[in-house]
Amino acid sequence: MSAQVSEESLHETSGRETEGYRAYRQQVQDSFQQWYGGNRDSWSGGGVKATVSEFILGSAPAAERGRRRRILDIGCGRGWQTARLADGLDADVVGLDLLDVWSPPAITHGSLRFHQGDFLGFAEGPMDMLVDSGCLHHQRQEDWRPWVLHGASLLREGGIWAVNIFLSPDGEITDKRLSDGRSNWWLPEDLVTGLFESCGLSLVSREVVDRNFQYEGHWLQYLTLAFRREQVES
Ligand SMILES: C[S@@+](CC[C@H](N)C(=O)[O-])C[C@H]1O[C@@H](n2cnc3c(N)ncnc32)[C@H](O)[C@@H]1O
Repeated sequence: MSAQVSEESLHETSGRETEGYRAYRQQVQDSFQQWYGGNRDSWSGGGVKATVSEFILGSAPAAERGRRRRILDIGCGRGWQTARLADGLDADVVGLDLLDVWSPPAITHGSLRFHQGDFLGFAEGPMDMLVDSGCLHHQRQEDWRPWVLHGASLLREGGIWAVNIFLSPDGEITDKRLSDGRSNWWLPEDLVTGLFESCGLSLVSREVVDRNFQYEGHWLQYLTLAFRREQVES
């Protein structure tokens, strides 16, 4: 059973205006710019991503009568999964990223819109669904809780947040930081579940997907979790 969360705590401050936050944000932006610029973004497509996308599509809440679902894709990158969400769910999807590297394929259902900016500064809502496919695990540890609280504040009650992370192979919280300063956190499942549940979200489903990729002797896996936003205390 998840803890309920008050409106006040949903607006807990994030430290987003601090120099440390801004400096790290710039490092993340520069790092991803390099990787996309060199076409090294192996995470954007392929079979593993397709499997994760199918799980996310299957986790979506039902559309409310008479309107399309509204979805925010946090850290959308190329926008390929963003397009899959619009098409597969006939949804109105916003792709948000620090970088404007999106190049989505044409869609035949739903709608797509892209926005360049930082998630913690994004205020459009309420959303029926949030998708965070590989973004949270690049944030500073002190920003994880503000990140989840902020997302919860954008989500309608009963809305779903699907989050995809690097699963820790040994139960430890480990930062495999790149030489350019960008963090790559390997996270244990109970930590992520506890984090979301402490912010008023309840676990509804999970899936582990093998990345078919070995790093430092570990076969890495993605963990995708879907949480529902519970009722806000009045
Ligand atoms: C590993 S990529 C994943 C991209 C995409 N979701 C996918 O599955 O292909 C992470 C993305 O998150 C973006 N990002 C990182 N921190 C962000 C933030 N604070 N706000 C918005 N986007 C962010 C990066 O620019 C990058 O494109």
